[in-house]
Amino acid sequence: MATTKKNTTTTPDDVNLNAWAGNRIVTLDEFIIRSEKDFEYATGELTGLLRDIGVAAKIINREVNKAGLVNILGVADNQNASGEEQKKLDVYANDKLIECLQNSGECCAIASEENDDILNIPPIGSKSSHYVVMFDPLDGSSNIDVNVSVGTIFAIYRRKSPSDQPANLSDFLQSGIQQVAAGYVLYGTSTILVYTTGRGVNGFTLDPSIGEFCLSHRNMRIPEHGQFYSVNQGYYSKFDLEMRRYIDHCSDQNYGLRYIGSMVSDIHRILIHGGIFLYPSTRKFPRGKLRLLYECNPLSMIVEQAGGRAINTQLKRILELEPTELHQRSTIAIGSPALVNELQAFIERYSALPI
Ligand code: AHG
Ligand code: MN
Ligand code: MN
Repeated sequence: MATTKKNTTTTPDDVNLNAWAGNRIVTLDEFIIRSEKDFEYATGELTGLLRDIGVAAKIINREVNKAGLVNILGVADNQNASGEEQKKLDVYANDKLIECLQNSGECCAIASEENDDILNIPPIGSKSSHYVVMFDPLDGSSNIDVNVSVGTIFAIYRRKSPSDQPANLSDFLQSGIQQVAAGYVLYGTSTILVYTTGRGVNGFTLDPSIGEFCLSHRNMRIPEHGQFYSVNQGYYSKFDLEMRRYIDHCSDQNYGLRYIGSMVSDIHRILIHGGIFLYPSTRKFPRGKLRLLYECNPLSMIVEQAGGRAINTQLKRILELEPTELHQRSTIAIGSPALVNELQAFIERYSALPI
């Protein structure tokens, strides 16, 4: 049986971090500001954006935590851009993120899973921002009324259009390798914010007593292998042959099945314990269900930065897919490199598709 070997490496950030942080408490704000100094041409905009997201995360966390106490549970009477039912907390989280991002003027436009179109943000004074932000404000929202973890996912890109003009769709339809930062917040048994700027992955746990995210997971590395697979096995009969064969293999190998139904939670577990997450095509979602820009790309950047792999079921690297629509969906296989390689071998062997 395969072992869960630690996937270790030391990033430049890690070396610097050990030098200045030692064993003391490091808050997210302090870490972000400190990290900015490692980027030669940093202007502070990206730092500001990450801080804005940190503030929104604390506000959303507060509401998620009291969701059972106040009358904001239940379904809002509108649907999101993909035609799915929107929960009230989705709307709340969406509004808070937009509010926090537009107040600081560090971001010129936003795209959200919950909005049909991009949202341009008017510049504050003469300042023109160079960044656009995309997010899934509340991931796994069907879990809220049963007290199961949910999350927020975000991705930050540099705009491509001239900064003296309003941002446009081309600023958002960039491949995932163009992300300058990506991350997620998991509102779980504790709340953790995990992010990367392309120099490793770090996690910050919210200490509610001081209201600060504190560095708790330095230089996160995904195990090379893993003993868990994560897929909605209820759709087994709707999966293609190669996927069914691979799932049979996972079961034959005695891998444990874990599926929360909130991608952030499933990916967080895999990041820490190793394993593979799969959302292949089904009859209902032939191109996969998960959204490339709001879910697949940011989580793929995190997982790759931690030493993992993320591909679609045509064996293309997720981060190299060229998006053509804002709400485009993708199939995904993501997690420990050894397991994604294993799946690839099954696809190469059993797929009817020309690979
Ligand atoms: P969201 O709540 O943002 O719409 O995302 C739900 C997603 C994802 O978090 C999860 O992995 C997946 O939907 C679950 O889908 P199934 O219920 O089809 O398994
Ligand atoms: Mn989601
Ligand atoms: Mn969502």
